[in-house]
Amino acid sequence: MNLKKTMLITAALTSTAALSAFAGSHGGKTATASGEMLGNTCAGCHGPRGNSFGPAIPTIAGNAATYLSDKMKAYKSGDAPSSIMGNIAKGYSDAEIDAMAGYFSKQAYKPMAQKHDAAMAKAGKKLHDKYCEKCHSEAGTLADDESGLLSGQWMPYLEYSLADFQSGAANAPKKMATKLKKLHKKEGAAGIEKLIHYYGSAK
Ligand code: HEC
Ligand code: HEC
Repeated sequence: MNLKKTMLITAALTSTAALSAFAGSHGGKTATASGEMLGNTCAGCHGPRGNSFGPAIPTIAGNAATYLSDKMKAYKSGDAPSSIMGNIAKGYSDAEIDAMAGYFSKQAYKPMAQKHDAAMAKAGKKLHDKYCEKCHSEAGTLADDESGLLSGQWMPYLEYSLADFQSGAANAPKKMATKLKKLHKKEGAAGIEKLIHYYGSAK
């Protein structure tokens, strides 16, 4: 994994050591543990109610329950690349994962306005509309798309996530992979940067 990403995540862990320790001992592993109880153990990294303090840890609030639960199960099976989530997801049954996904899907998504370059963001909007809007509609703010929220997501996280799709470490849906390829061919790495600045410009 990328060294910078490891450092960012380690920093987040150190500052939330107590909560993370709690996360490691989610004692309530009974059939009755609610999505909220289980989900509270994620706050050390993903922030209160799933709105992360960033920058390498994604906000998970407000995404579609199916998106969150599919992703957790992909971490668990090793189908999705991860630095940490593979190990964490293995500690939960599929039913517990579904319960947490349901809980986080109902929490309000707080888009994170971040430091961005306005000209790049403007160019990024055009690229988004051309290549991405079809499946990540309304600038990637519509949970019902089940595609992962983009606008207001943490920029460094998006950068790592897109790098994983491009390198093939993560499998993008076929049509998304085609669009990413086209985008990269026409716009180069700068095209991806512009998109990220666009998503970071969310209010
Ligand atoms: C130690 C920090 C940490 C903890 C604790 C943690 N996560 Fe994560 N989570 C991450 C990181 C970092 C990523 C990005 C993938 C990776 O590198 O592992 C991530 C990614 C995710 C994603 C994918 C989000 C997306 O937009 O695709 C989901 C869903 C998720 N975590 C759910 C959870 C749930 C549910 C819990 C609690 C059971 C949890 N996480 C606990 C650090 C953490
Ligand atoms: C054909 C539909 C489709 C298109 C077009 C598409 N995506 Fe996606 N995207 C998806 C789906 C479905 C997922 C969730 C499944 C997965 O992660 O494999 C996803 C996931 C993502 C994620 C991961 C989100 C997260 O939180 O980790 C990012 C980032 C992303 N897309 C960016 C883009 C960008 C940028 C474009 C345009 C260049 C784009 N996508 C075009 C369907 C699409």
